[in-house]
Amino acid sequence: MYVQTFKVSSLFMQNQCYLIHDLKNGILIDPAWDYTLINNFLTENNITLNGILLTHSHIDHTNLADKFAINHNIPVYIGKKEAEFFQFTCNNLQFVSHLDNINLGSFTIQSMLTPGHTIGSVCFLIENHLFSGDTVFIEGVGGCYDKSSNPENLYYSIQYLKNYLPSTTLFWPGHNYGVEPGKDLSYLMKNNIYFQFDTIDQFVSFRMRKNQVITF
Ligand SMILES: [Fe+2]
Repeated sequence: MYVQTFKVSSLFMQNQCYLIHDLKNGILIDPAWDYTLINNFLTENNITLNGILLTHSHIDHTNLADKFAINHNIPVYIGKKEAEFFQFTCNNLQFVSHLDNINLGSFTIQSMLTPGHTIGSVCFLIENHLFSGDTVFIEGVGGCYDKSSNPENLYYSIQYLKNYLPSTTLFWPGHNYGVEPGKDLSYLMKNNIYFQFDTIDQFVSFRMRKNQVITF
């Protein structure tokens, strides 16, 4: 399985979206901002899309989902809670819950409900690759500025990932704050401060500290 990273942007927003593929078929994760860049890669490499995975509903992770869904006639997966809370709509939309298995082409994907950044944020595990959206960045975790954010839930989501995933799991986040994606869990355990807090109070007070730079 190959992971292709696309660095895309719109004004002040910079995102990483991903294509996983086996040289024939592929799945997009959080497609946004640059349809031509992504679609040209598919065409040039003769890759047929099987589906789209959305980690959450924020526009910088979803704004091309409908266009790809229509043009490639493929399903789009998002957390059920997320879609219901935000009334998110899109063509060919399917809902996932905690620990669902989704089979698309030769890929089996496991969804994990990881609320905190938003109420229904989901991470997707494919083999040893975790697509973590705005739940986990290599350098930190997602901000809690959304009306549905909950830093306590984010703490429990991080504990869940720490306990559930093998230390060799590679993380592919939605944003880059200086470190390239694809680092493993053991790297995050050493370098990501949010993986080092032992108590919920420490975690929440650091996440919600004053005068911080806004992250998405
Ligand atoms: Fe977000």
